[in-house]
Amino acid sequence: MIADILPSEVASAEAFNDGLEGPLYPEEAAQISRAVESRRREFTTARLCARRALARLGLPPVAVPPGPLGEPRWPAGVLGSITHSTNYRAAAVVRTADVLALGIDVEPDEPLPEDLLESIASPDECARLRELRRTAPQPVNWGRLLFSAKESVYKAWFPQGRRILDFFDADLTFTPEGTFRAHLLLTPLERELGLRADYSGRWLARGGLLLTSVVTLAPVRAPRAEVVGAPQGASNGAPRLGGYGAVR
Ligand SMILES: CC(C)(COP(=O)(O)OP(=O)(O)OC[C@H]1O[C@@H](n2cnc3c(N)ncnc32)[C@H](O)[C@@H]1OP(=O)(O)O)[C@@H](O)C(=O)NCCC(=O)NCCS
Repeated sequence: MIADILPSEVASAEAFNDGLEGPLYPEEAAQISRAVESRRREFTTARLCARRALARLGLPPVAVPPGPLGEPRWPAGVLGSITHSTNYRAAAVVRTADVLALGIDVEPDEPLPEDLLESIASPDECARLRELRRTAPQPVNWGRLLFSAKESVYKAWFPQGRRILDFFDADLTFTPEGTFRAHLLLTPLERELGLRADYSGRWLARGGLLLTSVVTLAPVRAPRAEVVGAPQGASNGAPRLGGYGAVR
C-alpha cells in the first residue's frame, strides 16, 4: 500500500501482522532488550522491512538502530523512514542522489478526538478541514489524516533540521485527490541556513489505515551540453515539489 504513494525512486517494504521472520543485529537488539512484547514486535518487523527495502535498492543488509532522538540511522548515501500502526509496519528508503527528504507515516483510519485536534491543528487548518468535510466527495477522517501528515513532515524534516517540531510549526493544506502541502515556520537561524520550509506529500485511505508520505525529489541535473540553449527553468536546481509519481 505504501508504495502507491511513493515515487519510483523510493523502495519500500511493508508487513501485516508481524508476518516476517528474521534476526536483529546486536546493536538493534540492545535497543529493545527491556521493551514490552508489542514494541519488540513492531521494532523487529520494521527492521526486516527496512532490510527488504534496502535490498530493493540493491544495497546489502545493515543494522538500522535508532539515533539519539529516535531517528532511524541509515547507511551513508541513503535516506529512509519507518512507521508502524496496529498490525501494519513499513519502511521506505532511497538514495540521497535521488531524493532530498523522505517521511512516511500510518495511522488507524479512525476519527481524531476533537480535543486532540485542537492541540495539533491551527484555527486556519481547522477551518480548511471543515471545508473539506463539507465539499470532499468521500468521507475522510481529516483530523487523523492531518496528524499522520504532520508526523510524515516531521520525519522528512528531521535529518536536515534535527529539531523536534511543534505541531503548530507546520501549516498543512490537503486536496481531496490525495495530495497535501506543508509549510514550516522556521527559526531565523534555520532560514539563514537555507533549510527547507516547503514540502509536498501524498495520502491514501485504504484497508482501515490512513497512510501519508512526504518526498522532495532532488533536482534533475541535465548534462552541461544539454543545459546550453535549454528553455529557462528546465533545470534550475530547485527541488521538485508535488505530483512525485509523475515528475520524471
Ligand atoms: C517520532 C514520531 C514522529 C513517531 O511517529 P508515530 O506516529 O508516533 O509512530 P510511527 O510508528 O509512525 O513512527 C515510529 C518511527 O518513527 C521514526 N522516528 C522516530 N523519531 C524520529 C525522528 N526524530 N526523525 C525521523 N524518524 C523518527 C522511528 O523509525 C520510529 O520507529 P522505530 O522506533 O521502530 O525506529 C512521534 O512520536 C513524535 O515524536 N512526534 C513529535 C514531533 C512531531 O511529530 N511534531 C509534528 C511536527 S509538524
